[in-house]
Formats: sequence, C-alpha cells, structure tokens
Amino acid sequence: MKRLNLLEETRYEKLPVKVFKSDTEASVKVAKRIAEIIDHKNQKGEKAILGLATGKTPVIVYEELVRMHKDEGLSFKNVITFNLDEYYPMEPSSKQSYVTFMNENLFDHIDIPKENINIPDGNLKQEEIQQFCIDYEKKIEELGGLDIQILGIGRTGHIGFNEPGSAPNSGTRLVTLDDLTRRDASRDFGGKQNVPTKAITMGVGTIFKANEIVLMAWSKNKAPIIQKAVEGDISSDVPATYLQLSDHVEFILDEDAASELTRFKTPWLVKDCHWDAAMIKKAVIWLSNTLNKPILKLTDEDYNSHGMAQLAVEKGPAYNINIDIFNRIQHTITGWPGGKPNADDSQRPERAKPAQKRSVIFSPHPDDDVISMGGTFIRLVDQGHEVHVAYQTSGNTAVHDDDVLRYLEFSIDFVKSIGNGYEKLQKSYDMMRDFFKDKKPNQPDLEEIRNVKAFIRKSEATAAARYAGLRDDQIIFMDLPFYDAKKTEPYPSMEPDIERTLRLLKDIKPHQVFAAGDFADPHGTHIVCFRIVLEALKRLKKTESWIDDCWFWLYRGAWHEFETHEIEMAVPLSPQEVERKRNAIFKHQSQKDRPVFPGDDERGFWIRAEERNRETAEKYHSLGLANYEAMEAFIRWRY
Ligand code: F6R
Repeated sequence: MKRLNLLEETRYEKLPVKVFKSDTEASVKVAKRIAEIIDHKNQKGEKAILGLATGKTPVIVYEELVRMHKDEGLSFKNVITFNLDEYYPMEPSSKQSYVTFMNENLFDHIDIPKENINIPDGNLKQEEIQQFCIDYEKKIEELGGLDIQILGIGRTGHIGFNEPGSAPNSGTRLVTLDDLTRRDASRDFGGKQNVPTKAITMGVGTIFKANEIVLMAWSKNKAPIIQKAVEGDISSDVPATYLQLSDHVEFILDEDAASELTRFKTPWLVKDCHWDAAMIKKAVIWLSNTLNKPILKLTDEDYNSHGMAQLAVEKGPAYNINIDIFNRIQHTITGWPGGKPNADDSQRPERAKPAQKRSVIFSPHPDDDVISMGGTFIRLVDQGHEVHVAYQTSGNTAVHDDDVLRYLEFSIDFVKSIGNGYEKLQKSYDMMRDFFKDKKPNQPDLEEIRNVKAFIRKSEATAAARYAGLRDDQIIFMDLPFYDAKKTEPYPSMEPDIERTLRLLKDIKPHQVFAAGDFADPHGTHIVCFRIVLEALKRLKKTESWIDDCWFWLYRGAWHEFETHEIEMAVPLSPQEVERKRNAIFKHQSQKDRPVFPGDDERGFWIRAEERNRETAEKYHSLGLANYEAMEAFIRWRY
C-alpha cells in the first residue's frame, strides 16, 4: 500500500525525500545501505543482486564502497550486479563506454567475480538486441530480482535512459536518446555529434520490480527536474514521476538539488518559519515577483494571502517590512566595488578604507573574469585600485584544433620573414597536422599541442586584461596542475594547486579577492577552482594577520546568476560600460562564434553575459528600484 505523508512541511512531496548537507554525506549513506544489503544476504547464504547506475552521480558511492572493501573487508564475492544501461552502439573497451566507467570506478578495485557483472552489450547486432533484452530481464528475475536499484536522474527526467514518452511498464529495450541528454554527454564524447543517438536501457517496469529504489541527485543543475519529479503530477513527460507510484523508493538529495522543493524554496507556504533577516528578504522578493508588484506597494492583505501572515504579525505592518527590505536591497547597489573613498560606508557593500585597495580576480578559465565581472574589473582599475588577475587554468581544452594550425602557420611565416631558421617550427607543425588527421573524438592532445592551445588563450587573456587597464606584471597565469592531471586521473591531489594559490596571495596581500562561485558549472572546473582559493584563504587565516582584512567576493560564470535575495553587491553598468565589457570579451577570439564547450546554451558568451546582466538590472527594477542598463552581481563568502 502507498505510504501516507503526514508531515505538513512535505505535503507537496509525493514520495519520500531525504536531504543531506553534501553529496559526500549522502553518498556515504547510500554506500552503507548497499553494504548492509550485501551483509544481510551473506548471512542468509544468498547472493546480493545490485542494480547499478553510471554517470557523475554515483561516483562517490562507488568510491566509498571501494574504501569499505579495502579498509573494512567488505567483500563482493557474493554480489551480482546489473547495470541500468549502455550507449548503443558502443565498444565495451571504448573510453566512453559504461563498461569502462564501471571498471574504473568500481569493479577494478573490488573482489567481484567478473562473471557476476552484467552490463547491456553495446556491441550487439541490431537483430540480436531484442533477445538480449529479454534474457537480461529473465536473468534478473531468475536470481530473485534486484535487492536494490540505484538511480541518477537526467535533466529530461529520465531514469536509466527512459526518456520522456517512456511507458511505466516498459522493459529493457533499445531507446533513442533525448537531445538534451546527448548535449549533457557531449563533454565525454568531445562534441554532441559524437554521442551515440541510442542506448540499451532497463525499462521503468524493470526498475520498478527492484525491492528498493534509491534515486540520488546533486547540485543546482538537477534542482528543477527534482522539483518536478517529487512534486509534479505523474506524467510520461517526466519519467521519474512514475516513481511516485512505488512504495519502496527514496530520493536522496544534497541541499542544492533539493533547493527547488517547496519546503526549501518557499517554506512559508508549508510551515511556520523562523523569520530571520535572510528569510524575510527572500520571502518579500518572492511576494513582489509573484504578484508582479514593486516591494513598496505590497499590502498586509498580500502578505496574509500568501503564507506570510505570521511575518506580518511578528514584524509588521507590511509597510515597515517593505521599507526595510527595499532599503536593504538599495544598499547592495554600488558603483564603487572597491569601496567609496571618504564616504560613510556603514550601508555600503564594501569598506571605504583603504581608499586604494589591492584586488585579486581569480578566473578559472582565461575569460571568466571579463565574461562575469568585466564591468566591475574595469571600474576597479578606473577607480585606482591595484588589480591583479590570476588565470587559474590554461583553458587549453577549449581551443579548436584548426586554430592551432592557423597560429603556427602565422608563426612560420613570421620567422621566415625575419630570416631565421624556421625548420624546427615547421617540423612541429607537420607533426601536429598529422596528429589531428587521425585524432579521435575526445582524444587528449599531445603536450606540445596543449601548450600551443594554452599560448593562444594566454595571448587573448593578456589582450583583454590590458584592455581593462592592467600592466603586464598584474596579469598572472597560474596554470594549476589539477587541470591537465584531471584528464588522466579522476581525482588528482589539489595540494600543489593550493600551494601555488597560497604563495600568490601571500605575495600580493589583497584586500579583496574575487573568484567564480559557480557551483553548478557543468564541467566541474569552476567548483574545483573555488575550493582551491577557499582552502588557501582558510590556511592563511591561521598564520597571517592581513587576511582578516581580506574580503572574499564571488561572481558567477556564464552558466547562471545568483538569486536576487542572495546578492550582496550589485554593480550597475552604464551602456558605455556594457560596450567596454563586450570589447574585452571579444579579445577572446578562440571562444567567439563557436566555442568548443557551449554547454546547453548555444549563444556566444558575450550575448549570455549581457543578457544576464540586463536581467539582473530588470529584476532590481521590477522590485521598484532604479532602472539600470545592466548589473553585475556578487555575494560575499565569509570564510
Ligand atoms: C546512468 C543513467 C542515467 C544517469 C543520469 C544522470 O546509468 O542511467 O539515468 O543516471 O543521466 O547522469 P549524471 O549522474 O551524470 O548527472
């Protein structure tokens, strides 16, 4: 029988959901559950039958299982596994196959007998697939069914590769992948065009038969689809909603993935809230947006009819709350991102003193600085601050191969024109040209090629930073080692990166540090870059006194913006400043027109940046604040 949801707070949730502080904490919990099942089955002298998933989501679960195997003697000798899916067609030995994924992340590190591993075969002939699928199902059934099936969720709402349109009773079969799924996979395959269009997947019906179903999701990227899967109506448009019909399913989420659920997004609609300053700001902005009314026009009646009556009673009348929130948002706006000298700074986002600050802008890739905070960058320089920009990675992966040849052709001509020996250069060029001829999709480049790609991006970043007004000695290329190491090992140590960052900060002793706070960056580089800076700052805090005076500001990259209620500094840009910012972005020619990794937005980075900054300004305006052309947004990270 279907369980009843008795809690007021979760009344919109149609299946059980547990939310954890982090993906690690949540994954450890799932790994423990799997280990329990294995132990339990072992004690009964039976085999544990596990349904496994691939993708980014279960990686830490597998890591933890490997750890338990090594440290705690967890044995997989009595385990039989069935994977959800495999691309079709797919060579099992290929780098992108789920066979390779499972071997690298789990099977190669545990004692599971190879014959106990089952993964749909991407190498079958078309005419063999149907029988294979029937046999796959039969084998699971004959073993007594899956004890547990772990799942991730795609942004289309797919479970396994059951894309929108799948039937609730579907079985294992060949399916066509949704376009969004292929775009999400494009990074692994070096472009969407190389992602297979089909896959063999267990059906929704197959998944349903498992004794226990655990769906995991991490990060903001997944928040909208999780909201639909948990609170939406059951529909084939979002196959994960079928799980609402199961009485043995649980969703395990981190806080980011859960953030669109009603109890987190608008908690005042489902429970009595503790109305602290942050919650009030969030709720009032939400009310203003929902009613499409400027903050100062919201009435007690509006509060009462939108779950905010308790707030109106505690802190009201509404007009007082409105004025307080309006002023607080007003105070986030500043044309002085480095602080306004000789001004009362009690209501300003930055301090007035020292009037001339040292600022370090960390930029994960060589163009994030200008894309995300180009206007603020230029203002800081114009206002006389000592600005340094530190490019954390070389960004070499995002340069097209033909640009390498183009730049080398230029170099050969140049060296020839000044009468120097160009033979060595020509040899390198020929070697690279040959390499590109046979290069497989997503094949890593040779080191020499990676270097040329890095030089291209370096020259562009230098041009952009110079355009913003920096001297050459203020432009730093950190070339953090994790970036290239990550291509060959999944979890390289961050120590050398932290060390390098620490040294840089010690040399400059900045009053302000800016870094990218994109926790939903689909490629993961931004979050790693953020963690490195944060760790360096934290370590310095233990030894250096100047660090107490160093404020840490976060901007967001090309992917998304902060929520309005989170913004702590909004720097307005005039139409001329928007143009200067655009010119700075244009210096990144290799990223213009057809970036290698556009993500799920095909528009050029400069268009995205302008639209986002315009949207932020519009959001402020719709709340009743002044109408600016554009705004760059920041939050302050207390470390
Ligand atoms: C993988 C699978 C997919 C993924 C989903 C999420 O075996 O069947 O449903 O779980 O696409 O992928 P990640 O975890 O990479 O976000």
